[in-house]
Amino acid sequence: MFSLDRDSPVPLADQIEARLRALIDSAQLPPGAKLMSIRRLAGQLGVSPNTVVTAYDRLVAAGLIDSRGTAGFFVAETATTQADAAELLEAGEEQEPVWLAQQANDQRAGVLLASSGALPAAWLEDAIPATAVQRALAKSNAGLASRCPPQGLPELRGAIAMLMRGQGIAVDAGRLLTTWGGTHAIDLICKTLLQPGDSVLVEDPGYFLMFGRLRQAGLRLVPIKRRPDGIDLNQLEAACVEHRPRMLFIQSVLHNPTGWSSSAANLHRVLMLAHQHGFLIAEDDVQGHFHPGSPTRLAQLSGLDGVIYYSSFCKAMSPALRMGYIAAEPRLLKALLREKIYSILTTGALNEFVLLEALSSGRWRKHLDRLQQRLAAARLASTRQLRQAGLLLEHPAEGGLFLWGALPRGVDVDLLVKDAYRNAILLARGATFSADGTSDPHLRFNVAFSQQPRLAGYLQQRLQAVAGGNATLRRLGTTPAKD
Ligand SMILES: Cc1ncc(COP(=O)(O)O)c(C=O)c1O
Repeated sequence: MFSLDRDSPVPLADQIEARLRALIDSAQLPPGAKLMSIRRLAGQLGVSPNTVVTAYDRLVAAGLIDSRGTAGFFVAETATTQADAAELLEAGEEQEPVWLAQQANDQRAGVLLASSGALPAAWLEDAIPATAVQRALAKSNAGLASRCPPQGLPELRGAIAMLMRGQGIAVDAGRLLTTWGGTHAIDLICKTLLQPGDSVLVEDPGYFLMFGRLRQAGLRLVPIKRRPDGIDLNQLEAACVEHRPRMLFIQSVLHNPTGWSSSAANLHRVLMLAHQHGFLIAEDDVQGHFHPGSPTRLAQLSGLDGVIYYSSFCKAMSPALRMGYIAAEPRLLKALLREKIYSILTTGALNEFVLLEALSSGRWRKHLDRLQQRLAAARLASTRQLRQAGLLLEHPAEGGLFLWGALPRGVDVDLLVKDAYRNAILLARGATFSADGTSDPHLRFNVAFSQQPRLAGYLQQRLQAVAGGNATLRRLGTTPAKD
């Protein structure tokens, strides 16, 4: 079920409680699921039954599980979910970008985050052990009184530069700036290098929260079709002539939401068009850590000339640290640094020391290898189950979190995602990833959650019901509505 860290200063009962909470929060233990008996779990984990009793008692007290006498312990049906919901303010309407982003972080108990953009907490637990946090504090110059240089700790920037050089990107610590994740990088780029009314080229489909942020900044979004081997070059060229864009936002590697990467030839042509038409490129590599191979990036091909590159450790290492980074040529980086100081002054020294410790201890590489193996297995299982349920997966990606699956004709995607949410399953529909909200029969699936039989069971049942309804209508001589 899970293992315990015997070197950790965290008591074993606390660890068991935390692991079970995470399984319940991520719906890997859904409402109504039976927990292992106290004796069996104690035997499996090699702890005394009293330790398990302590953890179970606390979960009962928190309303997360129920004791049903001799039948055992079960995940509670609704009580805490409702209590959680009552405490949370929703930032947007259902399926809006901010709503979806909030869902992945609110982590409401019992909701299966089938379309979320994040990994389950249990997959990231080994990335930074508690002892690394203690070591980081001990190595910092003044503990919790430490200050962080606004550009980021020099040693940390050095470690990130080394990691990027390993990806073939020629960069040194001086060309890097740390951020609060990729979201902060997008925000800094918007505020520093763009002005309301500017035309900005974006891939379509693309990352929904970025679209929302660009719109909020008063920018004119020009959607360019994203294809399995990169952005559509004909559309890109035509848009350069028509719109005289200031910038292109692009994800070269494991594009969100499709999971596709770009060919080197495609990226080379993008760079040529950027030089010819004088626009900047913001290359988003937030998903890139998950790629199992050595993909080509624009930052590598361009030597950062005219390319602002950003990535983050929030997905693959620690959402708790919220650390990201931008690499750019000095003229642009200086402007971004000024904006960082105006907006947040600096990032947190503790977070930077912890990240430095994690990168320099050698754990990062091993952690990524494990994640990639786990993701590969989850991709296989999810692909098989989703196909069996009736989803069409036309161009499966080389790795990463996402599968981009189309619903069969005749299914109303808006109704389906609403119905799924009423059934405690979070699905994100294709239109959310479209720059102009065009309806789209796709759904984005997160492979870490989509291998759960509960999702396949739900989809199979709903899609069969639609097919059955259409068959009935055909029998009655009526044509079913087109999608
Ligand atoms: C493509 C892309 N860019 C940026 C972000 C934001 O990343 P962060 O969590 O580091 O702010 C995400 C998050 O899902 C993403 O998928």
